[in-house]
Amino acid sequence: MRRKVGIIGAGHVGSHVAAGLALLNICEDIVLIDTDRRKAEAHGADLQDMVCYGGRSCRIWAGGYEDISDAQVCVISASGEIFKENRLEELDVALDVMDDIIPKLKASGFGGILVSITNPCDLVALYLHMKTDYPVIGTGTALDSARFRIRIARELDVRPDSVEAFCIGEHGDSQVPVWSQVRIGGRLLDELAEEEPERWALDRAAVEKSTVEAGWEIANKKGSTEFGIGAAAAELIGAVLCDSREILPCSLPSLWNGTEIYASRPALINGGGHPDPLLLKLTEGEEKAYEESRKMMAEYRRLKLDGRM
Ligand code: LAC
Repeated sequence: MRRKVGIIGAGHVGSHVAAGLALLNICEDIVLIDTDRRKAEAHGADLQDMVCYGGRSCRIWAGGYEDISDAQVCVISASGEIFKENRLEELDVALDVMDDIIPKLKASGFGGILVSITNPCDLVALYLHMKTDYPVIGTGTALDSARFRIRIARELDVRPDSVEAFCIGEHGDSQVPVWSQVRIGGRLLDELAEEEPERWALDRAAVEKSTVEAGWEIANKKGSTEFGIGAAAAELIGAVLCDSREILPCSLPSLWNGTEIYASRPALINGGGHPDPLLLKLTEGEEKAYEESRKMMAEYRRLKLDGRM
């Protein structure tokens, strides 16, 4: 069966998700949907040119909601504005954009899984979950965790794929880097740093600050991020489409004090669109920061989302 992915929002992010999907051979059909049809057509043609090389066979075209009724996955990357320093400032505009998309999506006959990117990611994913019956997975801290691993690897002169590290909570300023569970080649960094401090010590505060600020650092210079989020979303979509059982950090339903929110944590990605979260092992400080992050999102739900139901 041909794997088809719809992408609603073919701007910087959506077009790079399409590039990631095509280059990684994750699906056979990609439909780009955008209010700016000319831009979607141009991205489709440009991406099709790219696919011609590298032995890829993906078909990519600009279409409408009617073209995604048989898609297995639909990406939500439409946004009103490219994100500000604090992604939460984009919430009102993002919810208005979702209120335009949701009825069209429901009417299209699409019956698959939503992978939501639009910022503020966790709250938009929650809104889609509240307003539709679709399984919804947010890319969440998948990108932040990659940034965390890259910075640790750079400081320790190790390849990033030999560093296992996750950020949890909000894809935003309150995200929590879980230092206590960082592993280098299977060994806890905390233990290595205790046994050989010279070799494994690093400026943790600087790594944390750089990780949280990485998105804005890029967007402030070029207007958006695109490559990193495109690859992170493609990895998540690939894991869903082939029921890979990969463990990835992503934004999924969570309860805070009885209120349902979305927040990121490592989860086993399956083909059903409901990732299976791993139990977390956190220090007291990490647990407190995770609570604060989720509490903030519960507060935003109360202030900004509940009134739209
Ligand atoms: C970033 C955007 C996707 O962090 O929020 O790059």
